[in-house]
Amino acid sequence: MKLLVVGSGGREHALAWKLRQSPRVERVFCAPGNAGTAAVGENVPIKADQLEQLVQFARGEAIGLTVIGPDDALAAGLADRLMEAGLRVFGPTKAAARLESSKIFAKELMRQCSIPTANAGTFESSEEALRFCRTLQPPVVIKADGLALGKGVVIAQDQSEAAAAIHAMMDERQFGEAGSRIVVEEFLRGSECSVHAFVGGGAYRMLATARDHKRVLDGDQGLNTGGMGAVSPADNWSDETQVTFEREVMQPLVAGLAQSGITFSGLLFPGLMMTAEGPRVLEFNCRFGDPETQAILPRLKSDLLDLLEATIDGRLQEVQPEWDERVAVTVVMASGGYPGKYETGKPISGLEAAAALPDVQIFQAGTRHGNGEVVTAGGRVLAVTALGDEVEEARRRAYEAVALISFEGVHFRGDIAVPASGGNVAGL
Ligand code: AMP
Ligand code: GLY
Repeated sequence: MKLLVVGSGGREHALAWKLRQSPRVERVFCAPGNAGTAAVGENVPIKADQLEQLVQFARGEAIGLTVIGPDDALAAGLADRLMEAGLRVFGPTKAAARLESSKIFAKELMRQCSIPTANAGTFESSEEALRFCRTLQPPVVIKADGLALGKGVVIAQDQSEAAAAIHAMMDERQFGEAGSRIVVEEFLRGSECSVHAFVGGGAYRMLATARDHKRVLDGDQGLNTGGMGAVSPADNWSDETQVTFEREVMQPLVAGLAQSGITFSGLLFPGLMMTAEGPRVLEFNCRFGDPETQAILPRLKSDLLDLLEATIDGRLQEVQPEWDERVAVTVVMASGGYPGKYETGKPISGLEAAAALPDVQIFQAGTRHGNGEVVTAGGRVLAVTALGDEVEEARRRAYEAVALISFEGVHFRGDIAVPASGGNVAGL
């Protein structure tokens, strides 16, 4: 079978790398991919937002399955377009992807299904939003309804910051239409956890858990990023949490989607806050996480293609993903200045030496080929993953690999996979 992976990040490199291992896969194309995906498959110069060209390419190459990485391609309806063309796709339709692309839609569904989440109000006018906001004890969380490149959530420390965020989103349209409606909610205390599940045919199968490290600096300080590293399994998850989570979140969600007439087929990834009262849903994502995927997939022993096909064919009951018991630690190496402004085109050295270390896998994100070498091309440049019997061993190996790699301005966190502390309180 020929496959097409849409996207260009570390997540897509990990997906292409894992899918390439399936004996049923003949070729893997990545659109547009990066220097890493070029080594496991073939890059195609079509961007994730060029829907028509992607459909034409998939049709022309007789692609057996297209796997969609990024949220904006899903929200734009890429899955719908491929299905209309009679092509097989892993990723939800535009209507189902509203779980991620509209925080208000997600909040309403959670309310209908009694899924535990932060108490919130949803607003179409800044005056009403402000009035509700003043009834909450700061910190207060202000969220743009739509996709805003990961920047649409503001944790306001006091009422004046909250008012400024509401004004910027709703009156000044800082995020365009994405902020015309907003969610205002209570601040939850705890540590975060990322849970991935294949959902299709009214059933679900969970993947291994992971914990992301969202802040740019050690000790959960500094700005929010797409994710600076991950550890799988998550260290703030237990068998008991699993039971609670399935009973309180996954089961009502799958039933609620069916009741609302929404056919969800693809990857569902609730972002959770592990509070003293139990897991609370912060958001739903309708795609694999980045960098969570780079920590989760190296632990997957099963054939990923089998699982993706079982999801879209409604046969999830027949499959059971198998996992390597070891711990995976992923450290993201980023460009100087990220998540703010950064320069690109910096040559990267040491990739081969680092990749030669045992139980190390280097996933590339913002990279490209330039003058015969691999150079930086984005904010998050590499995701370096290592496996170990214990978390300490995995960490040591990951940082050994990181130490061999360099490029001008590189920065990374030194505390990935250090056990989850009391959570976000210290970081405020
Ligand atoms: P979201 O896109 O909704 O997941 O929000 C992005 C990030 O903001 C989350 O990963 C959390 O770190 C933080 N966050 C969102 N909602 C809350 C909340 N109610 N309480 C505390 N932190 C939150
Ligand atoms: N790392 C968080 C996300 O992919 O949304």
